[in-house]
Amino acid sequence: MDVNRTISDVRRSIELLKKEGKRIAFVPTMGALHQGHIELIRQAHKQGDTVVVSIFVNPEQFGPDEDFDSYPRELENDLQKCRDENVSLVFAPDRGEVYDDDKKLSIEIDSLNKFMCGAIRPGFFEGVLLIVNKLFNIITPDVAVFGQKDIQQFQIISRMIQEFNHNVELVMAPIVRANDGLALSSRNAYLTAEQRTTAPGLYRALQFIKKQILDGVKTPKLLIEHQISELEAKGFEIDYLDMFSLKTLHPENTLQEGQKYILAGAVWLGKTRLIDNFLIEL
Ligand code: PAF
Repeated sequence: MDVNRTISDVRRSIELLKKEGKRIAFVPTMGALHQGHIELIRQAHKQGDTVVVSIFVNPEQFGPDEDFDSYPRELENDLQKCRDENVSLVFAPDRGEVYDDDKKLSIEIDSLNKFMCGAIRPGFFEGVLLIVNKLFNIITPDVAVFGQKDIQQFQIISRMIQEFNHNVELVMAPIVRANDGLALSSRNAYLTAEQRTTAPGLYRALQFIKKQILDGVKTPKLLIEHQISELEAKGFEIDYLDMFSLKTLHPENTLQEGQKYILAGAVWLGKTRLIDNFLIEL
């Protein structure tokens, strides 16, 4: 497995892979790889002949009060996991390789950023688009795999590919869960043992609401409010928990047959932020 730290090196490696006629499947990550990332890599193997992973904790997607400094960094461990999963190439640049201090341009996002995490974390998705845009230009993958857990990220990247004419196919990998339902995340490492036993409460609340909706509830507002109160009573602080249109990413109070929705929540347990969602097609 090749590990490249500079843009010029990774471009050379990619050129060689392309000369060999390889279809390149790309998995962008911020490292601290867990089973969720392993699933992204396995999906990528199904989509292409060779898998390229990037590992870069992107400063542009962290707010000033967020956990950029404490975000887990375990490069050697991550590289071993990539070797074990037959990744061909890892791009692991330093901040200075990717960002110029004299940056003059940025990407703006309109209505897709108005609700969910976009409303709560100003600048987050702009930072994500900036790095994903750069990575697509550097790696020039044929296909890129992102997880359903970050569904708003997936939808906004999908829009960027369309509007900026990136020549890359986008594939969504399903959420990977622990046995008790908790969606895997690098940030789960922050949970105390006690919080870890409480944490699947978000999954259970979403699952309960989903079942009611599939059983015919078309105006789930009260149901959702009740689940929010229950979660608060267990010690969760709620950023949001609601039904959103998959297309617009705006909240929907009245659900309609034939439409696709995201039932999504973002909550805090102490200093750990958890997100989770279900896709619901009526
Ligand atoms: O989903 C993530 O891990 C990050 O947002 C991404 C796509 C690697 C960009 O930094």
